[in-house]
Amino acid sequence: MLKYTELVMDHFRNPRNLGKIEDADAQATEGSIACGDMMTVYLKIKDNRIADIKFESYGCAANIATASMMTEVVKGLPIDEAKQISWKEIVERLGGLPQIKYHCSNLAVDTLRKAIKAYEDSTPRGVTNESIS
Ligand code: FES
Repeated sequence: MLKYTELVMDHFRNPRNLGKIEDADAQATEGSIACGDMMTVYLKIKDNRIADIKFESYGCAANIATASMMTEVVKGLPIDEAKQISWKEIVERLGGLPQIKYHCSNLAVDTLRKAIKAYEDSTPRGVTNESIS
């Protein structure tokens, strides 16, 4: 049986930011090539920061825990900083994961990046009222 840290179990049993944002500015669903599981990330962006984030996971305990930790880490961050978060950092913050579960953290971070990209693709950058006038 896989051994998880107390913190992983806590985030699995009480996931932070679990659910859906109905009026999200962007969302993305991603699947893991390794296992076929899926998750969705919803974002609210304000002043180029992640004002709110929620997730739905159709993955395993490790995915729920890493997604929960990921949302805690990036909430409030500028989107450029949120993009730099790595799956390894999430695993470290949880006190480690069994190696065969690393891809579950990868799924959490990949879905976040895909949601940020969806936001950026829908929002032209560098266009301000000043540059138009
Ligand atoms: Fe699929 Fe963890 S085994 S996300």
